[in-house]
Amino acid sequence: MITNIETCPQAAAARAKTGAARFYGQTEGRMKMESKVLFLNDQQVRSLLTQRDVLDIVEETFTALGNGMLRHPRKDPMFVDEEGRYNCLLAMPAQLKHKQVAGMKWISMFSHQKPGLPSSFGNFVILNHTDTGAPFALVEATSITLMRTGGGHAVIGAKHLAKKGACKLAVIGCGDEGRRAIGGFLEEFALKELHLCDLSEAAMDRCIAEHSGRIEKIVKCASPREAVKGTDMVLTVTTSRKPLITADMLEPGMTVLGLNAFNDLDGSLADGRFRWILGNKHSDGSQIVDNPRFASAHLSMDNVSGDLGEILTGKIPGRTSEDEVIVFTHMGMGSLDLACALVAYERAMEKGIGQTLIFNG
Ligand SMILES: NC(=O)c1ccc[n+]([C@@H]2O[C@H](COP(=O)([O-])OP(=O)(O)OC[C@H]3O[C@@H](n4cnc5c(N)ncnc54)[C@H](O)[C@@H]3O)[C@@H](O)[C@H]2O)c1
Repeated sequence: MITNIETCPQAAAARAKTGAARFYGQTEGRMKMESKVLFLNDQQVRSLLTQRDVLDIVEETFTALGNGMLRHPRKDPMFVDEEGRYNCLLAMPAQLKHKQVAGMKWISMFSHQKPGLPSSFGNFVILNHTDTGAPFALVEATSITLMRTGGGHAVIGAKHLAKKGACKLAVIGCGDEGRRAIGGFLEEFALKELHLCDLSEAAMDRCIAEHSGRIEKIVKCASPREAVKGTDMVLTVTTSRKPLITADMLEPGMTVLGLNAFNDLDGSLADGRFRWILGNKHSDGSQIVDNPRFASAHLSMDNVSGDLGEILTGKIPGRTSEDEVIVFTHMGMGSLDLACALVAYERAMEKGIGQTLIFNG
């Protein structure tokens, strides 16, 4: 039996939200809902969001974190390789209370990927309204991940933690994330010198091809030690499972930005001699500090000074002196991906971009 939509309060509420869901009937006494979900592919997302937009969204999201507006249920990687250590799929759920939106990013991270394939691709975000639970957007998230990680939260971390006038950047790991990160750093910093280090010569050459002309001096380095020397900011973004950066490499005033946490950073960077900041004390507490994978690093929350949300909301200071050495580690938050996907969705609705999928059920 088809019931008039206006007689169903749940359906009216759902419809009020961008027409995401519509009541259309009943089967065996159960209401049937038609959900209209806007699908955006990678190309469309890239046409709707710039790196500058993403930096602003990331900063706003860390501020929301500091204001208690985000919720992140625990995320547990599901390892799918024989050894159960290298290749995983990960669900990253989050709620943006200030936007009345919740959802999830579903992402692959294959550090032992088949030759020729990227370590992460085919990822997506699903967005739901929190008043009805209705889904309303399915957004390809591979570009979003690249824009919000190395070029996003690492850059916003550096913006608030690096010393004044920082202009020399070392990038250890010049894959997709590292290459993209450089573009993000160029949005916030007048980079004069870039040191690159990667096992792959071709990966470093791709970085040079993409960014030469925008940075005075770009140097390919033979080791992480050589790359770190004399820089202000060190970005580690490899797929290495062996520490590449040790405490003795760090110089006064440096800021280390570790996107692969203590997979490629030595535990000595978090033993209390340097100021250690997390992106999010709650999620990084479980994904980094209490992660059994890093047991040999003997990490402790006692050595954590605070998180980026606390810095952005003035609860704790950012850098406190020119000489302070700061180590920032963050494993990402689903909220960053959702916030980017939401802006892409809103712009797509305005411009009439995307493909509408109808879900019945
Ligand atoms: N923190 C976050 O939010 C977040 C989000 C996405 C990805 N990541 C992590 O970022 C890392 C990089 O991701 P990607 O997509 O750029 O991967 P990628 O495979 O494109 O690039 C990784 C690069 O690391 C290099 N590398 C590996 N071992 C090395 C070593 N010992 N010395 C120097 N270089 C080495 C590889 O040659 C490769 O170029 C991964 O570990 C991924 O899990 C973190």
